[in-house]
Amino acid sequence: MSKRYTITAALPYTNGPIHIGHLAGVYVPADIYSRYLRLKGNDVAFICGSDEHGVAIPMKAKKEGVSPQEIIDKYHGIIKKSFADFGISFDNYSRTSAEIHHKTASDFFKKLYEEGEFIEEVTEQLYDDEVKQFLADRFVTGTCPKCGNEEAYGDQCEKCGSSLNATDLINPKSTISGSKPILKETRHWFLPLDKYESFLKEWILEGHKKDWKPNVYGQVKSWVDEGLKPRAVTRDLDWGIPVPVKGAEGKVLYVWFDAPIGYISSTKEWADREGKDWEPYWKDKETQLVHFIGKDNIVFHCIIFPSMLKAHGDFILPENVPANEFLNLEGNKLSTSKNWAVWLHEYLEEFPEKQDVLRYVLTANAPETKDNDFTWKDFQSRNNNELVAIFGNFINRVVVLTNKYYEGIIPQPGDLTEEDRKALEELKAFPGTIEASLNRYRFREASQELMNVARLGNKYLADAEPWKLIKTDEERVKTIMYVALQIASALAVLSEPFLPFTASKLKKILNQENSLNWNDVHSKDVLIEANHKINKSELLFSKIEDAEIEKQLEKLEATKKANEQANKELEPLKDTISYEDFSKLDMRVGTIVEAEKMPKAKKLLVLKVDTGLDIRTIVSGIAEHFKPEDIIGKKVTVLANLAPRKLRGVESEGMILMTEDTEGKLVFMNPDEENTPNGATIN
Ligand code: 2FM
Ligand code: ZN
Repeated sequence: MSKRYTITAALPYTNGPIHIGHLAGVYVPADIYSRYLRLKGNDVAFICGSDEHGVAIPMKAKKEGVSPQEIIDKYHGIIKKSFADFGISFDNYSRTSAEIHHKTASDFFKKLYEEGEFIEEVTEQLYDDEVKQFLADRFVTGTCPKCGNEEAYGDQCEKCGSSLNATDLINPKSTISGSKPILKETRHWFLPLDKYESFLKEWILEGHKKDWKPNVYGQVKSWVDEGLKPRAVTRDLDWGIPVPVKGAEGKVLYVWFDAPIGYISSTKEWADREGKDWEPYWKDKETQLVHFIGKDNIVFHCIIFPSMLKAHGDFILPENVPANEFLNLEGNKLSTSKNWAVWLHEYLEEFPEKQDVLRYVLTANAPETKDNDFTWKDFQSRNNNELVAIFGNFINRVVVLTNKYYEGIIPQPGDLTEEDRKALEELKAFPGTIEASLNRYRFREASQELMNVARLGNKYLADAEPWKLIKTDEERVKTIMYVALQIASALAVLSEPFLPFTASKLKKILNQENSLNWNDVHSKDVLIEANHKINKSELLFSKIEDAEIEKQLEKLEATKKANEQANKELEPLKDTISYEDFSKLDMRVGTIVEAEKMPKAKKLLVLKVDTGLDIRTIVSGIAEHFKPEDIIGKKVTVLANLAPRKLRGVESEGMILMTEDTEGKLVFMNPDEENTPNGATIN
């Protein structure tokens, strides 16, 4: 029976592009689920958009020296394109700066305000007296009172997932000026979450004990058990949706108040465009609302937004919130600021047309029950050993042989043998098996069951060996190929949610575009008819070579080095010297005129340097960084009045000034000017 579904995927912040962690945690599972529901004939609204408010946006704007508007326009564009490129099939992708959203969020707040659902209170909040600004959310960091993480934000600790008020932080520090905040009075509106405790207990803790994921249920339970406190839903900030009540000038809605309402506004925008009514998608009790999110969003989707919806009264509550854990990259936490990520737009430049490979790997290794690691080796092996060797190989064999034996026309089968019947029975069971996993949000398991369909095909062909039988029993081969083609046709349908680009290619190859749905694979005896003509074979997947993987690993290695360098403690400043001390140094421009290795010394070169005053010998510890022949003719800076000293028996008369580059390689402090003459003084 067809049902109505509203599927939401967390609105990404527009303060940077998106990476594989976002895709694995939220957007790929949400897309698989939505595509699957549509293939089952359901009425689906798959909703998302950009989250363009909150402190993260002005912070990023400041960093890049542009306006917040420029930031959101730039990243909204990049993010929207990445989603389209990876086949994320949103019915609508909106943005919270849209007028329809400002109005929807504003009206929502007004209704709660008018019905007396908020507590209005003047309280002392953190304030940065240097920049004259109240500090909340990401404008302030400090130690989390729950887990001791020293980098918790004013509204949330990303380490333990706690939802915080800025004044809860121990040793708070302004992220704008670095100064210690003072307390200053300001008026705000609070949602009394404590009032919703019994509702949350009954709805989630009693009602969803069995069907919600243990990680989600567990987090909700621990918050509710600890006791909920009123939470400010307004902020003193100049970026966001103005608080629509008198006396709130200069204040905006808290980003986590407006963002989830963005799901509703985006649904309205979609319905307007499609000539539909948005209301049943949010108000009809028969509609199933599901929020796909990452684990850091659990409190907002399971406690705060439902309390808002409850307070409002008109809306349905989510049926499930299948939050995922986090994905790591090669053993380290994904990080935008450390550039430790595989950015989607960059991936596509390196692996064009391999969207499905990434979708598959991220699903097969999804962080569903615990944090998981993405490694390039695993990416390569899942591509080569599963997509190419199992899925691609099966389809290729079927299509090539059908073209070779029958010029692409599906043969009429003879009587089915026991093996044929068994294979077709097994095939019919797959939609149910995959569905059982999907209905429990077990996408990893579902993706493996999908691969088992191709395994079934390969095993059937390997056992039947049509390529041998063709010489002795042409009639039997017709039946074998007919059965194998039924499996190929089922794969084209069942793979669509997981591998949409591949499924559409495969349907083209089978010349069977948009004809079958999910249930047909279970209920129909014939998925692809005899006498139907298929097209020529086309490779669905190709092998990924070691060199391609090495390149990605080298790229990460370079990022690691750059980060280490950036974090390297600078040497502390030495004691102050007088001008007289400084003027004692005699530094001159010189040119290296000869260079050779010091015998039996790994690090030393013996140089002859023209200082303008003389040509002198300098022994320098740079042999591991430069070949002698490469530095002859190089302009250098020489400390010319350093007392001579013997190194390995050679008297060194001065020192060449050097520094290190970001990778720890030595570089000359050389005067770049071509026409700086030897002997010129440096002061
Ligand atoms: O964590 C985030 O990236 C948030 N921008 C998610 C918002 S989800 C929703 F409520 F809009
Ligand atoms: Zn914490």
